[in-house]
Parts: sequence; structure tokens; C-alpha cells
Amino acid sequence: MRGLVLLVTLACVARAQHQALIDYLERRLLAIEDRISLWQEQTTRYASDLRELKQQMVSQLENLDKEKETLRMNLDGVGTRVDRVERELDYLETQNGAQPCVDVDDKLIEQQVTQVKEKQRTKYLKLSDCSDMISTIKAMKILKRVGGQKGMWTKDTSRVSGKVYIFNGTDEDTFNEFASVQDFTRSPGMSLSTNVKLPSAWRGMGHVVFNSHVYYVNQAEDITVVKYDTRNNSVTDSAVFPAQDHVPVYGLNPETVMDLAVDEEGLWVIYATRQNERYISLAKLDGSSVDIEQMWDTNCPRENAEAAFVICGTLYVVYNTKQPGRSRVQCVFDVNGMVTNEEAPLVYFPKRYGSHSSLKYNPKEKLLYAWDDGYQILYKLVMKKKLEI
Ligand SMILES: *[C@@H]1O[C@H](CO)[C@@H](O)[C@H](O)[C@H]1NC(C)=O
Ligand SMILES: *[C@@H]1O[C@H](CO)[C@@H](O)[C@H](O)[C@H]1NC(C)=O
Repeated sequence: MRGLVLLVTLACVARAQHQALIDYLERRLLAIEDRISLWQEQTTRYASDLRELKQQMVSQLENLDKEKETLRMNLDGVGTRVDRVERELDYLETQNGAQPCVDVDDKLIEQQVTQVKEKQRTKYLKLSDCSDMISTIKAMKILKRVGGQKGMWTKDTSRVSGKVYIFNGTDEDTFNEFASVQDFTRSPGMSLSTNVKLPSAWRGMGHVVFNSHVYYVNQAEDITVVKYDTRNNSVTDSAVFPAQDHVPVYGLNPETVMDLAVDEEGLWVIYATRQNERYISLAKLDGSSVDIEQMWDTNCPRENAEAAFVICGTLYVVYNTKQPGRSRVQCVFDVNGMVTNEEAPLVYFPKRYGSHSSLKYNPKEKLLYAWDDGYQILYKLVMKKKLEI
């Protein structure tokens, strides 16, 4: 009997324990289910938040697109207006502004020093058979931006040397020499160049490099052209420019007291004096002695001139405005009298709102080396025969 009671008691205890286990498990399952449903709820909320965000982004992007389109249309409108203003300005300038070429007052000519008159009277004897003149500017290539706002760059115009020369600034006593155009373009800054120190300072942007010689303009008491041999770094010659009372030759680049140029005929100097101060004068230089061979007064005004160059004995003066606009050749002077200003085409530089601090012609390549706000630019010229006009 005692044994039976014990058995029953044991069985009851076992059942109770079993029940407790089941209860415990059920509670755990419920808790887990609760948590799962909480997660599900959160996930749905996140998903709907994301959807909302995406919709907002899409509509904002659409708005941005619309704004971009309006902006582009506005810009187009501004561009057209700038073009129109520019055309109107050009028209006004040709109508009344500084008439680029007018007859020089007889009195002014009479005031010229006799030496100049004598050098003008003789007929110019051409050294080459070249008779090209500019037809248009075909292409423009921006090679680099090295150096300051104003400066001058050029290649040696002789047959053998392909060296490139940089005169950075307006008043220094050093220049940079690169072995080739390739070296110049791949050089970080001036690092592939040789910095050469000259025995005296140079002034303005009027220098040229011709047959391995740098001809630079020095202004102390007088204006001197110094001829410097780049092969052995020594001054070969120097000459005080004889014309008196100099004034800076270009209205828009007053740092250039006097400008040198090289063409098929050799070395030229473009200058201005107080005696004829509204106009630009031209002289032919002897390349070896730097002496003046002949002089001319041109009808090209200094006002609004930014640079000039000589091709086959014809001077081309480039004009711009104080607010940099489009540069154009608006006055020519031919020492052989074959090209008159009326017949010469009005040559515009490619559309770029800039100003040139120097323009150097290379007769071998028919290229202009230009410096515009620190950019080194090449212009490719298309020529035609002078007689064909
Ligand atoms: C070029 O000249 C300008 C001043 O005209 C100067 O600020 C600049 O440092 C120079 N650059 C180099 C590379 O010599
Ligand atoms: C430099 O070279 C030129 C030409 O070769 C020569 O006439 C001149 O005397 C040389 N100058 C010096 C200082 O050696």
C-alpha cells in the first residue's frame, strides 16, 4: 500500500514538472513571436520611409533638371545679347570712333627730324621675293598657361634652332629657354627650362629671338636694343635707338616702349615718338649691327592698339578695347605700297574674350606666338598673294 502511494505521488510530480516545462516553452515562443512581429513592423516602416525618400529625390531631381534647362536658356539669351552688343560696338567703331587710318596732318610730317625724312624718302629695296599677306586666321591652339598676366614668348626664327623663349612679366633681367616646343608643353611650369640672367634688365614685351640671338629692349636713360648671343651668353652688340622723345608704342600695352619684329625680310622696330605721337612708326633694322636702315611714319593710330607684327614688309596693327574684347587687325601699312588699308581684309582673331600682351610672327612656320593673360597661344595664318587683291 505504501509503495502504491509513493508511485502515484512520483507520477504526479513528474506530470507537474512536464506541465511547467511546456508552459515555459510556450511563454518563450510567445515572446519570440512578439519580437518577430515587432521586427516585421519596423521593416515595413523602413521600407515605406525609403520609398517616400526615393519619391522625394526623384521629384527634386526633376526640379533640378527644369532649373538647369531654364538656366541654359537664360545663358543662351545672354550669349546672343553679348554677340549683338559686340557687333553694334564694331559697327559704331567703324562708323565714327577712332578712324583707324586717316591721312597724317601735313604739319606733323614737316615737324619730323630731317634724318627721319631722309630715311623715308628712299624707296625700300626688298631683300626677299616674298609677297604674301594675311587672308585669315585659320586656327588657334592654346599650348599652356605659365607665368603672369603680361609677357612674351617666341621660338628662335632661325633655321637650325627650335628653342622656345619665355619672357615672363614686363620688367626683369632673366628669361627662360626650352630646348623645344615639346619640352615646353610637357614641362610642369618652367621646370624643364634654363633660366638665363642677362647683363642688363629688359622692359616690355618687345623682344625677339633671331638666329640664336636675343634682341631685347632696355630702357635706362635711352632706349637701347641689346643683341645677346645665346650660344656663348655674351652681348654681341647694342645700339641706342636714335629717334628722340619716345612714347610707348601701343595704347593698350604701355609697358612695351618699343616693339621688335622679325619677318621674311629680317628685323624691324615698331615705335612711336612725341613728334608724331598719335601714330605708329616703323623702321627696318640691320640684324648684325642693329643700326637703322630706313624709317616710315604709318597712318596706324596708337590708341587702342595692343600689338603689331610684320609679314613680308607689311605692318599689321592689332586693336582691341580696354575691356578685353575681340582682337582684330584694323590697320595695315606696306613699305612697298602694294597693300593699302582700304583693300586689306579686316582680320578677326578667333572668338575669345582676351587681350594680347604680345604677338610674335614666325616667318618659317606662318604662326603667331601670342601671350594672353598668361596663356601661350599659337595662331595659324592663311596667306594670299598681295597682287591678288
Ligand atoms: C611670372 O611673372 C609674374 C609677375 O608678372 C610672377 O608673379 C610669377 O611668379 C612669374 N612666374 C614664373 C613661373 O616665373
Ligand atoms: C660669342 O660667339 C660669337 C660668335 O661665335 C663671337 O663672335 C663672340 O666673340 C663670342 N663672344 C665671346 C665673349 O666669346
